[in-house]
Amino acid sequence: MAKPKVYVTRQVPEAGIDLLRDACEIEVWEGELPVPREVLMDKVSGIDGLYCLLTERIDAELLDAAPRLRVVSNMAVGFNNIDVEACTARGIPVGNTPGVLTETTADCAFALLMAAARRIVEGVDYVRAGKWKTWGPMLLMGQDLHGATLGIVGFGRIGRAMARRAQGFGMRVLYQDAYVAEADPGLGATRVDLETLLAESDFVTLHVPLTEETHHLIGREELARCKATAILVNTSRGEVVDPDALYEALRDGQIARAALDVTEPEPLPADHRLLTLPNCIVVPHIASASVATRTKMAVMAAENLLAGLGGEPLPYCVNPEAVE
Ligand code: DGY
Repeated sequence: MAKPKVYVTRQVPEAGIDLLRDACEIEVWEGELPVPREVLMDKVSGIDGLYCLLTERIDAELLDAAPRLRVVSNMAVGFNNIDVEACTARGIPVGNTPGVLTETTADCAFALLMAAARRIVEGVDYVRAGKWKTWGPMLLMGQDLHGATLGIVGFGRIGRAMARRAQGFGMRVLYQDAYVAEADPGLGATRVDLETLLAESDFVTLHVPLTEETHHLIGREELARCKATAILVNTSRGEVVDPDALYEALRDGQIARAALDVTEPEPLPADHRLLTLPNCIVVPHIASASVATRTKMAVMAAENLLAGLGGEPLPYCVNPEAVE
Protein backbone atom coordinates (compact mmCIF):
# COMPACT_ATOMS: atom_id res chain seq x y z
CA MET A 1 0.00 0.00 0.00
CA ALA A 2 1.27 3.47 -0.83
CA LYS A 3 2.49 5.48 2.13
CA PRO A 4 0.54 8.61 3.02
CA LYS A 5 2.09 11.80 1.72
CA VAL A 6 3.12 14.43 4.24
CA TYR A 7 4.38 17.96 3.72
CA VAL A 8 6.56 19.50 6.44
CA THR A 9 6.73 23.27 6.11
CA ARG A 10 10.26 23.78 7.50
CA GLN A 11 13.23 21.83 8.77
CA VAL A 12 12.40 20.81 12.35
CA PRO A 13 14.41 18.85 14.93
CA GLU A 14 15.34 15.53 13.35
CA ALA A 15 13.62 13.43 16.01
CA GLY A 16 10.26 14.59 14.67
CA ILE A 17 11.07 13.70 11.08
CA ASP A 18 12.60 10.38 12.11
CA LEU A 19 9.28 9.32 13.57
CA LEU A 20 7.54 9.92 10.25
CA ARG A 21 10.14 8.40 7.98
CA ASP A 22 8.96 4.78 7.99
CA ALA A 23 5.26 5.42 7.82
CA CYS A 24 5.08 8.33 5.38
CA GLU A 25 6.39 9.75 2.19
CA ILE A 26 7.78 13.05 3.43
CA GLU A 27 8.62 16.27 1.68
CA VAL A 28 10.23 19.05 3.71
CA TRP A 29 10.46 22.71 2.72
CA GLU A 30 14.19 23.29 3.06
CA GLY A 31 14.16 27.08 3.01
CA GLU A 32 15.17 29.12 6.04
CA LEU A 33 12.19 31.40 5.55
CA PRO A 34 8.59 30.17 5.56
CA VAL A 35 7.34 28.34 2.50
CA PRO A 36 5.75 30.86 0.12
CA ARG A 37 1.97 30.68 0.08
CA GLU A 38 1.77 29.75 -3.59
CA VAL A 39 4.20 26.86 -3.09
CA LEU A 40 2.23 25.61 -0.11
CA MET A 41 -1.03 25.90 -2.03
CA ASP A 42 0.49 23.74 -4.73
CA LYS A 43 2.05 21.21 -2.34
CA VAL A 44 -1.12 20.57 -0.35
CA SER A 45 -3.02 19.44 -3.42
CA GLY A 46 -1.68 15.89 -3.15
CA ILE A 47 -0.98 15.38 0.56
CA ASP A 48 -2.67 13.41 3.32
CA GLY A 49 -1.01 15.13 6.25
CA LEU A 50 0.31 18.64 6.86
CA TYR A 51 3.01 19.26 9.48
CA CYS A 52 3.09 23.04 9.83
CA LEU A 53 4.32 25.91 11.98
CA LEU A 54 2.82 29.13 13.29
CA THR A 55 4.22 30.90 10.24
CA GLU A 56 1.70 29.25 7.90
CA ARG A 57 -1.86 30.44 7.49
CA ILE A 58 -4.09 27.40 7.26
CA ASP A 59 -7.43 28.72 6.07
CA ALA A 60 -10.41 27.61 4.02
CA GLU A 61 -8.73 28.52 0.73
CA LEU A 62 -5.77 26.29 1.54
CA LEU A 63 -7.97 23.46 2.79
CA ASP A 64 -10.03 23.60 -0.39
CA ALA A 65 -6.83 23.09 -2.34
CA ALA A 66 -6.11 19.94 -0.30
CA PRO A 67 -8.87 17.45 -1.09
CA ARG A 68 -7.02 14.48 0.47
CA LEU A 69 -5.91 16.21 3.65
CA ARG A 70 -6.74 14.17 6.76
CA VAL A 71 -4.79 15.92 9.51
CA VAL A 72 -3.10 19.25 10.27
CA SER A 73 -0.40 19.13 12.91
CA ASN A 74 0.96 22.46 14.18
CA MET A 75 4.34 22.40 15.90
CA ALA A 76 3.25 24.99 18.47
CA VAL A 77 0.86 25.25 21.35
CA GLY A 78 -0.76 28.35 19.85
CA PHE A 79 -2.95 27.74 16.81
CA ASN A 80 -4.18 31.20 15.87
CA ASN A 81 -2.60 30.63 12.44
CA ILE A 82 -5.22 27.95 11.75
CA ASP A 83 -8.87 28.40 10.91
CA VAL A 84 -9.97 25.61 13.23
CA GLU A 85 -13.63 26.00 12.30
CA ALA A 86 -12.80 25.48 8.63
CA CYS A 87 -10.81 22.34 9.53
CA THR A 88 -13.64 21.02 11.69
CA ALA A 89 -16.17 21.64 8.93
CA ARG A 90 -14.06 19.44 6.67
CA GLY A 91 -13.57 16.72 9.30
CA ILE A 92 -9.87 17.52 9.67
CA PRO A 93 -8.42 17.23 13.19
CA VAL A 94 -5.83 19.82 14.21
CA GLY A 95 -2.99 18.92 16.56
CA ASN A 96 -0.90 21.22 18.75
CA THR A 97 1.87 20.81 21.33
CA PRO A 98 0.72 21.93 24.78
CA GLY A 99 2.52 21.20 28.03
CA VAL A 100 6.01 20.41 26.79
CA LEU A 101 6.94 24.05 26.34
CA THR A 102 5.40 25.45 29.52
CA GLU A 103 8.48 25.62 31.73
CA THR A 104 10.83 26.64 28.92
CA THR A 105 8.55 29.49 27.89
CA ALA A 106 8.20 30.63 31.50
CA ASP A 107 12.00 30.50 31.89
CA CYS A 108 12.34 32.85 28.95
CA ALA A 109 9.55 35.17 30.10
CA PHE A 110 11.25 35.39 33.47
CA ALA A 111 14.62 36.00 31.84
CA LEU A 112 13.09 38.87 29.85
CA LEU A 113 11.48 40.24 32.99
CA MET A 114 14.82 40.20 34.82
CA ALA A 115 16.74 41.56 31.86
CA ALA A 116 14.34 44.49 31.59
CA ALA A 117 14.22 45.08 35.35
CA ARG A 118 18.00 45.15 35.68
CA ARG A 119 18.69 46.80 32.31
CA ILE A 120 20.95 43.97 31.19
CA VAL A 121 20.78 44.70 27.48
CA GLU A 122 21.54 48.38 28.04
CA GLY A 123 24.49 47.30 30.20
CA VAL A 124 25.85 45.00 27.52
CA ASP A 125 25.49 47.74 24.88
CA TYR A 126 27.21 50.23 27.21
CA VAL A 127 30.25 48.01 27.67
CA ARG A 128 30.48 47.09 23.99
CA ALA A 129 30.32 50.78 23.05
CA GLY A 130 33.40 51.45 25.22
CA LYS A 131 31.46 53.69 27.62
CA TRP A 132 32.48 51.82 30.79
CA LYS A 133 35.02 54.18 32.34
CA THR A 134 34.40 53.68 36.06
CA TRP A 135 32.05 52.20 38.65
CA GLY A 136 29.12 54.57 38.77
CA PRO A 137 27.01 55.04 41.90
CA MET A 138 23.96 55.71 39.76
CA LEU A 139 24.91 53.81 36.64
CA LEU A 140 22.05 51.89 34.99
CA MET A 141 19.95 51.64 38.11
CA GLY A 142 17.04 49.29 37.63
CA GLN A 143 14.25 47.72 39.63
CA ASP A 144 14.13 44.96 42.22
CA LEU A 145 12.09 41.86 41.70
CA HIS A 146 11.99 40.84 45.34
CA GLY A 147 9.12 42.51 47.12
CA ALA A 148 7.61 43.67 43.82
CA THR A 149 4.18 42.73 42.46
CA LEU A 150 3.92 40.54 39.40
CA GLY A 151 0.66 40.72 37.46
CA ILE A 152 0.00 37.66 35.32
CA VAL A 153 -2.58 38.09 32.57
CA GLY A 154 -3.79 34.61 31.59
CA PHE A 155 -3.43 31.97 34.27
CA GLY A 156 -3.09 28.81 32.20
CA ARG A 157 -0.08 26.53 32.27
CA ILE A 158 2.53 29.17 31.46
CA GLY A 159 0.94 31.83 33.68
CA ARG A 160 1.07 29.42 36.63
CA ALA A 161 4.66 28.51 35.85
CA MET A 162 5.42 32.23 36.10
CA ALA A 163 3.70 32.35 39.50
CA ARG A 164 5.91 29.50 40.76
CA ARG A 165 9.02 31.35 39.66
CA ALA A 166 7.81 34.60 41.22
CA GLN A 167 7.29 32.82 44.55
CA GLY A 168 10.96 31.93 44.61
CA PHE A 169 11.84 35.58 44.11
CA GLY A 170 9.66 36.76 46.98
CA MET A 171 7.18 38.55 44.75
CA ARG A 172 3.53 39.24 45.38
CA VAL A 173 1.49 37.66 42.59
CA LEU A 174 -1.77 38.88 41.10
CA TYR A 175 -3.48 37.23 38.17
CA GLN A 176 -6.36 37.87 35.85
CA ASP A 177 -8.03 35.19 33.80
CA ALA A 178 -11.44 35.26 32.19
CA TYR A 179 -11.81 31.49 32.57
CA VAL A 180 -9.68 30.25 35.47
CA ALA A 181 -11.57 31.03 38.66
CA GLU A 182 -9.42 29.51 41.39
CA ALA A 183 -5.64 29.43 41.49
CA ASP A 184 -3.89 26.54 43.17
CA PRO A 185 -3.69 27.85 46.79
CA GLY A 186 -0.04 26.73 46.90
CA LEU A 187 0.80 29.37 44.32
CA GLY A 188 -0.10 32.23 46.66
CA ALA A 189 -1.62 34.18 43.78
CA THR A 190 -4.59 36.50 44.10
CA ARG A 191 -7.22 36.81 41.41
CA VAL A 192 -8.12 40.39 40.51
CA ASP A 193 -9.70 42.16 37.57
CA LEU A 194 -7.51 43.51 34.79
CA GLU A 195 -7.84 47.13 35.94
CA THR A 196 -6.59 46.28 39.43
CA LEU A 197 -3.80 44.12 38.08
CA LEU A 198 -2.56 46.88 35.81
CA ALA A 199 -2.76 49.52 38.52
CA GLU A 200 -0.99 47.47 41.21
CA SER A 201 1.64 45.51 39.31
CA ASP A 202 5.30 46.43 38.97
CA PHE A 203 5.60 43.80 36.26
CA VAL A 204 2.84 42.73 33.90
CA THR A 205 3.37 39.50 31.98
CA LEU A 206 1.01 38.27 29.24
CA HIS A 207 0.07 34.60 28.81
CA VAL A 208 -3.23 34.61 26.96
CA PRO A 209 -3.93 32.93 23.61
CA LEU A 210 -4.66 35.26 20.70
CA THR A 211 -8.40 35.38 20.12
CA GLU A 212 -10.87 38.06 19.08
CA GLU A 213 -11.22 38.96 22.78
CA THR A 214 -7.49 39.27 23.43
CA HIS A 215 -6.58 41.15 20.23
CA HIS A 216 -5.05 44.45 21.48
CA LEU A 217 -6.06 43.55 25.02
CA ILE A 218 -3.29 45.91 26.09
CA GLY A 219 -3.90 49.24 24.40
CA ARG A 220 -3.77 52.93 25.29
CA GLU A 221 -6.35 52.72 28.05
CA GLU A 222 -4.71 49.73 29.70
CA LEU A 223 -1.20 51.18 29.49
CA ALA A 224 -2.50 54.40 31.01
CA ARG A 225 -3.63 52.42 34.06
CA CYS A 226 -0.12 51.04 34.66
CA LYS A 227 2.42 52.48 37.07
CA ALA A 228 5.00 54.77 35.45
CA THR A 229 7.59 52.29 36.73
CA ALA A 230 5.84 49.25 35.28
CA ILE A 231 7.55 46.73 33.03
CA LEU A 232 5.53 44.84 30.42
CA VAL A 233 6.61 41.37 29.26
CA ASN A 234 4.97 39.67 26.30
CA THR A 235 5.70 36.07 25.33
CA SER A 236 2.14 35.27 24.17
CA ARG A 237 1.30 36.71 20.75
CA GLY A 238 2.31 40.10 19.41
CA GLU A 239 -1.25 41.09 18.53
CA VAL A 240 -2.25 41.01 22.20
CA VAL A 241 -0.54 44.41 22.54
CA ASP A 242 -1.33 47.47 20.41
CA PRO A 243 2.16 48.35 19.14
CA ASP A 244 1.39 52.03 18.56
CA ALA A 245 0.03 52.43 22.07
CA LEU A 246 3.06 50.61 23.47
CA TYR A 247 5.48 52.78 21.53
CA GLU A 248 3.84 55.95 22.83
CA ALA A 249 3.67 54.64 26.41
CA LEU A 250 7.38 53.75 26.38
CA ARG A 251 8.39 56.99 24.67
CA ASP A 252 6.34 59.17 27.00
CA GLY A 253 7.32 57.37 30.20
CA GLN A 254 3.81 56.12 30.84
CA ILE A 255 5.45 52.78 31.61
CA ALA A 256 9.15 52.19 32.25
CA ARG A 257 10.12 49.30 30.01
CA ALA A 258 8.95 46.44 27.85
CA ALA A 259 10.48 43.09 26.96
CA LEU A 260 8.92 41.38 23.97
CA ASP A 261 9.39 37.91 22.53
CA VAL A 262 6.47 38.44 20.16
CA THR A 263 5.48 41.50 18.18
CA GLU A 264 3.01 42.96 15.75
CA PRO A 265 4.06 42.76 13.01
CA GLU A 266 6.18 39.67 13.31
CA PRO A 267 8.99 39.62 12.37
CA LEU A 268 9.54 43.20 13.52
CA PRO A 269 11.40 45.12 10.78
CA ALA A 270 14.83 46.38 11.86
CA ASP A 271 13.69 49.97 11.25
CA HIS A 272 10.56 49.65 13.42
CA ARG A 273 10.23 52.58 15.82
CA LEU A 274 9.96 50.30 18.87
CA LEU A 275 13.58 49.36 18.21
CA THR A 276 14.68 52.97 18.56
CA LEU A 277 13.70 52.95 22.23
CA PRO A 278 16.39 51.99 24.76
CA ASN A 279 13.69 50.89 27.19
CA CYS A 280 12.35 48.20 24.87
CA ILE A 281 13.97 44.79 24.46
CA VAL A 282 12.85 42.59 21.59
CA VAL A 283 13.90 38.98 20.91
CA PRO A 284 12.73 36.91 17.91
CA HIS A 285 9.94 34.66 19.28
CA ILE A 286 12.33 32.26 21.00
CA ALA A 287 10.58 31.63 24.31
CA SER A 288 10.19 27.88 23.68
CA ALA A 289 13.54 27.58 21.92
CA SER A 290 15.56 25.21 24.06
CA VAL A 291 17.01 22.17 22.30
CA ALA A 292 15.10 19.80 24.57
CA THR A 293 11.76 21.56 24.22
CA ARG A 294 11.86 22.13 20.48
CA THR A 295 12.76 18.45 20.11
CA LYS A 296 9.78 17.43 22.26
CA MET A 297 7.53 19.73 20.24
CA ALA A 298 8.75 18.21 16.98
CA VAL A 299 8.09 14.69 18.27
CA MET A 300 4.69 15.59 19.65
CA ALA A 301 3.67 17.14 16.34
CA ALA A 302 4.81 13.99 14.54
CA GLU A 303 2.81 11.81 16.93
CA ASN A 304 -0.29 13.91 16.34
CA LEU A 305 0.22 13.64 12.61
CA LEU A 306 0.68 9.86 12.65
CA ALA A 307 -2.43 9.42 14.79
CA GLY A 308 -4.47 11.51 12.37
CA LEU A 309 -3.18 9.60 9.36
CA GLY A 310 -4.06 6.34 11.10
CA GLY A 311 -7.60 7.52 11.83
CA GLU A 312 -6.84 7.52 15.58
CA PRO A 313 -7.66 10.34 18.00
CA LEU A 314 -4.81 12.84 18.11
CA PRO A 315 -2.98 12.79 21.48
CA TYR A 316 -3.33 16.59 21.50
CA CYS A 317 -6.19 17.84 19.42
CA VAL A 318 -7.75 21.32 19.45
CA ASN A 319 -10.94 20.19 17.67
CA PRO A 320 -11.75 16.59 18.64
CA GLU A 321 -15.29 17.23 17.40
CA ALA A 322 -13.93 17.24 13.84
CA VAL A 323 -13.88 13.46 13.77
CA GLU A 324 -16.64 12.66 16.23
C1 DGY B 1 3.80 28.33 20.50
O1 DGY B 1 4.08 27.14 20.61
O2 DGY B 1 2.65 28.73 20.33
C2 DGY B 1 4.92 29.30 20.63
O3 DGY B 1 4.59 30.58 20.34
C3 DGY B 1 6.16 28.86 19.88
O4 DGY B 1 6.66 27.83 20.62
